[in-house]
Amino acid sequence: GETPTAADAWWRAPAARARLLAIATERTPRYVYHLPTVRERARALKALRVVDRWHYAVKANTHPAILATLAAEGFAFECVSPGELDAVLASVPGDAPLLFTPNFAARSDFERALATRASITLDALYPLEHWGELFRGREIVLRLDLGRGLGHHEKVRTGGSGSKFGVPVEQLDAFLRLADAHGVTVRGLHAHLGSGILDAAHWGEVYGQLAALAERIGSVAFLNIGGGLGVPAHPGEAPLDLAALEAELRRVKTAYPHYALWMEPGRYLVADAGVLLARVTQTKGKGALRYLGVDTGMNSLIRPALYDAWHEIVNLTRLDEPATGLFQVVGPICESGDVLGSDRRLPEPVEGDVILIAQTGAYGKVMSSPYNLRGETEEVVLDD
Ligand code: LLP
Repeated sequence: GETPTAADAWWRAPAARARLLAIATERTPRYVYHLPTVRERARALKALRVVDRWHYAVKANTHPAILATLAAEGFAFECVSPGELDAVLASVPGDAPLLFTPNFAARSDFERALATRASITLDALYPLEHWGELFRGREIVLRLDLGRGLGHHEKVRTGGSGSKFGVPVEQLDAFLRLADAHGVTVRGLHAHLGSGILDAAHWGEVYGQLAALAERIGSVAFLNIGGGLGVPAHPGEAPLDLAALEAELRRVKTAYPHYALWMEPGRYLVADAGVLLARVTQTKGKGALRYLGVDTGMNSLIRPALYDAWHEIVNLTRLDEPATGLFQVVGPICESGDVLGSDRRLPEPVEGDVILIAQTGAYGKVMSSPYNLRGETEEVVLDD
C-alpha cells in the first residue's frame, strides 16, 4: 500500500521504456497511461476499510479505459458536469453509484443530472431558492465551506474566504429551512478543501467537523470528506501515509459510527500512471540559458504554467547518459509561460530524442487546449 517514489516509477523498467520509445517513434506528443499502476493505487485505497464508498473524481482523467478500470476495482464516480456524467454512463456498464458535485451549474445542468441515477450535491442556496420544484421530494447532499482551504497551490484551494465553493457553515440553518420548505432531505454532507494534500490529519479534521454538524441535522446518513489526496512531486518528498490516514478516519468513525464515510480522490489514482511523451525539436543558447525545445507545451500540459507545478522530465532516449548541463525545457507555443521545466539537469539532447514528462496522468490531457492549433494530444493505454 505504500506510494512508490519517483525512483521506482513503472516507466523506468527496461521493458516499459522500450515500449514507450516505440510509441513515441510512431508519433508525438502522446500521453501514455499504465493501467496496472491505476489498479495498484485503487487497491491501496480500497484496503482502507474504514471508508465505506470510494468515488473516482472523473475530472482528473476521463479516458474510458481508466473509467472502466476503476469501475472494475469497485469505484463509484464523482462528476462535475453533464459531460462527465455522460462519459461515465458511456464507458462504465452496470450501476456504479454516481455523484454530481458541480459548482455554479446552470439549471439545465441539474435537469440533466436529475435524469440520471446520480446523487446531487448542492453548494449554494440559489438552486433551492429559484428552482426548488426540481428538487421537491428528493434527497440531496450539501457541500459546506468549513472556512479554510488547503492544497499544493492557491489556485486549487476550495474553501475559505475568496473561494467560490460551498455553503458557509453560518448559512447552514438558512439552507436547512429552505430544504424543509421545499420538501428536500439533506442525506449527506460534503466538504472538499483542496487538492494535492499530503498530510493525513486533514481528512480526520474534516470528517470530525462534518460529523459534528450532522448531529445537528438528523437526516444525514453519510459524510463525503472529499478528495485531494496528494502524490509527492519532487523526488524524496514523503508520500501520503495511508496507515496514518486510516488511523485518523478510524478515530472519528469510532465516535460517530452511524454515518457512512465516503471519499472522492482523483489525482492519487491516476497521476503516476500517466506520462507525456514529446520529441526534441531544437536547442538554443541565449544569454546564460540553454533551451531544449520539444514538440508540445502548455497546450498539452498546462500545470507548470498555471500552478508552477514541477514534473520530472527525463530524456528517455538517453536515460543512462550523464547530464551535461541545465536546460529550460520549452514547447512551441507563443507564450513566454510555455515552459515545461526550468533548470533541468539533462544529457546533451539530439533532435528527435524522446522526452518523458512524468506524473501527468492527472489533470494533463483533460486540461489540454487547442491553443495555437497544435492538434489534439493522443492518448495510448498500456496494460500487462
Ligand atoms: N472532489 C471535488 C469536489 C473536487 O473539486 C476535486 C478536484 C476532487 C474531488 C478531486 O481532487 P484530487 O483528489 O484530484 O486532488 N487541476 C488541478 C487540481 C484541481 C482539482 C479540482 N478539484 C491540478 O492540476 O493540480
